[in-house]
Amino acid sequence: MTNWERLTPQEIKELQEDFLDWYDAHQRNLPWRENHDPYRIWISEIMLQQTRVVTVIDYFYRFMEAFPDIATLASAPEEQLLKLWEGLGYYSRARNIQAAAQEIVAHYNGQMPQTIEEISSLKGIGPYTAGAIASIAFGLPEPAIDGNVMRVISRLFTIQADIAKPASRKVFDQAMRKILPPEAPGDFNQALMDLGSSICTPTSPQCMECPLQNYCQAYETDTVAQYPVKSKKQPPKPVYYLAYCLQNQKGEYLLVQRPETGLLAKMWTFPLVEVTQEEYRRYQLAYEEGQLVLDLVAEDAVPALPVWSEAVPSVVWQTRHLGEISHIFSHLKWHVLLFYGRVTKEQKLPEGARWVAGANFDQYVFPKPQQKLVALWQKNRSNNKDF
Ligand code: ADE
Ligand code: SF4
Repeated sequence: MTNWERLTPQEIKELQEDFLDWYDAHQRNLPWRENHDPYRIWISEIMLQQTRVVTVIDYFYRFMEAFPDIATLASAPEEQLLKLWEGLGYYSRARNIQAAAQEIVAHYNGQMPQTIEEISSLKGIGPYTAGAIASIAFGLPEPAIDGNVMRVISRLFTIQADIAKPASRKVFDQAMRKILPPEAPGDFNQALMDLGSSICTPTSPQCMECPLQNYCQAYETDTVAQYPVKSKKQPPKPVYYLAYCLQNQKGEYLLVQRPETGLLAKMWTFPLVEVTQEEYRRYQLAYEEGQLVLDLVAEDAVPALPVWSEAVPSVVWQTRHLGEISHIFSHLKWHVLLFYGRVTKEQKLPEGARWVAGANFDQYVFPKPQQKLVALWQKNRSNNKDF
């Protein structure tokens, strides 16, 4: 028998009461907690995936101001939506939100559906988000299980299941259904979120202040540090790029748009060329020592631009790179070395490429790595009036 099955109905009741009392007294004041509007809860839960609460708050206010209801969101221009999302990353989340909003308008009269099956069927809404919306907005007895909740529950019941494995979810689902109070599932779920972020934290849980201490198996057996059980995930795979900050004679910069699908779909960046790790190291070293002079360098100074070489047949490269950035996506780590060059001869650009004045960069949706590259460019520019 598992630890949660051993709980008597009386113990469960006491646990629920203690925990809900704690939540009443300590809950954080957050804009999406002002009411139970399913739209606000949905958007906040999507934003809160992989982004911290403090960061989300400003984005949330701006989003609600721009798109006060589901119908407005459904018909908004995608560019406006992505612009508002800029900086939050994982742009597929924003696109999925809009697709789901359009589904809601088309099939549910513009109102969030109220069953867990229908909510779960919407684009971009997985079991966690569906559980959060169902419980917080509609009072349905559904758990909302994310990494924080798994950590708390694994400690509470000394659960051995590996939280890195998707199959472990059902263990936590069972435990949660045992302790979730049917009269206040939304508050209980949110109490768990708050406890996970303030008290039952990953590395130094404050058990002395914890409202669940009396019920906590890990605390009782002095094994808190052993939970959650979590296998190491694979480190992100490194990928190497050279990026080109190319300026034409009007002083504009070359931007290219990424393909319709895949990572950072349709986002704009400086041209990027993937290279091997060895090539990357070689360029890194070769340019590290150089002086900042705008000068013609050897022809093989940087690899040719495979796609753009025809549109920019003649480039004068600067003999030093502008710097490098790295950026981690869930499974990939990008390393990008930024070069600067002046284009002395131009042809017509192909579809998906544009010359853009630096002052107009803010009209484009830049993914995080590109924002970092732009910051490098700006830093170099403020140090050197040549560009
Ligand atoms: N993290 C995820 N969802 C949350 C919520 N509703 N409130 C606070 N933190 C959260
Ligand atoms: Fe987490 Fe400690 Fe509370 Fe147990 S007693 S739930 S380990 S903070």
